[in-house]
Amino acid sequence: MTAILDKATPEPIPGGVPADADTVFTVRNLWKVFGPKADRIPGDASLTDLSTAELRERTGCTAAVRDVSFDVRKGEVFVVMGLSGSGKSTLVRTLTRLIEPTSGTLSMDGEDVRAMDKKRLLALRRNRVSMVFQHFGLLPHRTVLDNIAYGLEIQGMAKQERRDRAAAMVAKVGLDGLGERRPDQLSGGQQQRVGLARALVVDPEVLLFDEPFSALDPLIRRDMQEEVIRLHRDEGRTMVFITHDLSEALKLGDRIALMRDGEIVQLGTPEEIVDSPANDYVRDFVRDVPREQVVTVARAMRPPHDGEADTGAALPPDATVAQGIEAVARGGAPARVVSDGKLLGVVDHERLLAVVAGIGLPATPEQAAEDVVQA
Ligand SMILES: Nc1ncnc2c1ncn2[C@@H]1O[C@H](COP(=O)(O)OP(=O)(O)OP(=O)(O)O)[C@@H](O)[C@H]1O
Ligand SMILES: [Mg+2]
Repeated sequence: MTAILDKATPEPIPGGVPADADTVFTVRNLWKVFGPKADRIPGDASLTDLSTAELRERTGCTAAVRDVSFDVRKGEVFVVMGLSGSGKSTLVRTLTRLIEPTSGTLSMDGEDVRAMDKKRLLALRRNRVSMVFQHFGLLPHRTVLDNIAYGLEIQGMAKQERRDRAAAMVAKVGLDGLGERRPDQLSGGQQQRVGLARALVVDPEVLLFDEPFSALDPLIRRDMQEEVIRLHRDEGRTMVFITHDLSEALKLGDRIALMRDGEIVQLGTPEEIVDSPANDYVRDFVRDVPREQVVTVARAMRPPHDGEADTGAALPPDATVAQGIEAVARGGAPARVVSDGKLLGVVDHERLLAVVAGIGLPATPEQAAEDVVQA
């Protein structure tokens, strides 16, 4: 049986997206506890108050995901970041119930995933959600083409059609001419391209990536990151992307959920995480990030002075401070922040330097905009 959740039912998360936003996954109060009698843990306040280590000592259970709530919005790259053992893989595997949640609610496109029967769940994993793994998970005795076509074969697609589709995908991920090779005849980066093609060929609504690039060397890794950005930009794919690498998270994520000991300690845009860390843990995590590459000019702008409204380079509000610095340095004058032909404010070298130094700016872009309006 499948139940349809009322889209308005889920509680909005404080500081998160509104409940009526166009969401793909809606996750509320999700727990995954491994160990004996795991079911009793989420509902027992005397146990949920314990730290992960205390809980393990007292009960022999590991709470890999602890009371986690978030939405994945349609078309976004949602990054799950955290150190090893923080619960990232467990969390992402619960989304398609490759790991059964212990408690909480979970829906996809408004449909209750926890209520799905086997058949419906299988359909979800075959057609709607594809996964890309760190160690590629390719079938060693099959060619590249047959590896890519595998998901279509499982769907029952006729041989010629699936080979045609797989061939088109080979070209798309930059593996031209390699379709007849076996995985052991490919480099790591090429193997991961096969993994990506195999996930894409079923045209899934969501792609889940579990640290897909961490085994690749830095240059190939950058290529693959560009590939993800391209898929996001050109095809508007919804993606959930796990990484323990902060720079990868900042580069790819529209929003980032930072996990620690099974909990989400902060969920926000890269700019929010770097610029307004929720606590000392997050602050420590992002301490070495070059702020000018993450913070936007919308955060650094001030009201225009006389005569500034029509002069100087024009930047969109989501331009980074690094781009602002370049514009100001080149033009030798303050730059304007412009959206839809409307002047939002001005950035000058003092404001831009203040961002780099991390001092004396409004707390949020909204606050910065308000300051400009009031001036
Ligand atoms: N099947 C299992 N049985 C018991 N404990 C488990 C199981 N799977 C995971 N865990 C524990 O749950 C916690 C979270 O594991 P998980 O694999 O989700 O972490 P992760 O953030 O993906 O780490 P990594 O970056 O190393 O992949 C860890 O403490 C792990 O030991
Ligand atoms: Mg993992």
